Amino acid sequence: MFENKKKSKSLTPIVISNLSLLLGKTKILNKIKCKIYNESIVAVLGPNGAGKSMFLKTINGLIGIESGKINFNSREINDNIRKEIALVFQKPTLLRRSVFENMQFVLEKKNKLSNLEIMKLLQRVGLDTFKDKPARLLSGGEQQRLSLARALLINPSLLLLDEPTANLDPYSLNLIEEIILDENKKGKTIILTTHDMGQAKRLAKEILFFNKGKLLEQTNAINFFKKPKTNEAQSYINGKILL
Ligand SMILES: Nc1ncnc2c1ncn2[C@@H]1O[C@H](COP(=O)(O)OP(=O)(O)OP(=O)(O)O)[C@@H](O)[C@H]1O
Ligand SMILES: [Mg+2]
Repeated sequence: MFENKKKSKSLTPIVISNLSLLLGKTKILNKIKCKIYNESIVAVLGPNGAGKSMFLKTINGLIGIESGKINFNSREINDNIRKEIALVFQKPTLLRRSVFENMQFVLEKKNKLSNLEIMKLLQRVGLDTFKDKPARLLSGGEQQRLSLARALLINPSLLLLDEPTANLDPYSLNLIEEIILDENKKGKTIILTTHDMGQAKRLAKEILFFNKGKLLEQTNAINFFKKPKTNEAQSYINGKILL
């Protein structure tokens, strides 16, 4: 439905160097260095509080960083690049309006989609029959699906998904995973966080493993699940506490 939209220059490779983030006195992210190539699905893994959500927020420029650089195909973030990135939050933020109006609201006038196209997207996430329902009355999982549909409206080149299926039932989980794979096939780069190792195995081509604000591993997903390089990742996969 969006195939005709003209794309600006590619955002990849995304090269992150020496990225640090300090909030109060806490080092939330510590000298992160990684490279994300085109058309990848990257899963960001790590225990609660490791810095995964903050990492996504720094990538889309929501949070000012203390030091370091994030380059998108050799460019620093600017308004044009920002328009190509969509972040779906761990906790959805929806307007006090209907499902349909939540969709309409994100669109700028110039790329206004027809009502039919909005309905197609709602259908894709299984929410078309809820179009007139106040968005805040949706269940947690339904809100998450609406947030994803809203993000897809702007047809971003880079999709950042923070635990996109955390509250979803098995049917909806499959639905969202299929959308993620499909969007990746269409050329989007997707970076997602998840605690669902099955999901990381099903979707990810690459893994970024975080612990205590540090990126301990960037590995091809198959190798990561065969044998992670660090003891921390091994413990995490096996459900052991990391001290
Ligand atoms: N505004 C803030 N000020 C200070 N510390 C913060 C702030 N927001 C988050 N933190 C801290 O930053 C750390 C990383 O948080 P983040 O939300 O990125 O973790 P996470 O890896 O996404 O965890 P989870 O798996 O629970 O979602 C946590 O220790 C958190 O307490
Ligand atoms: Mg998080």
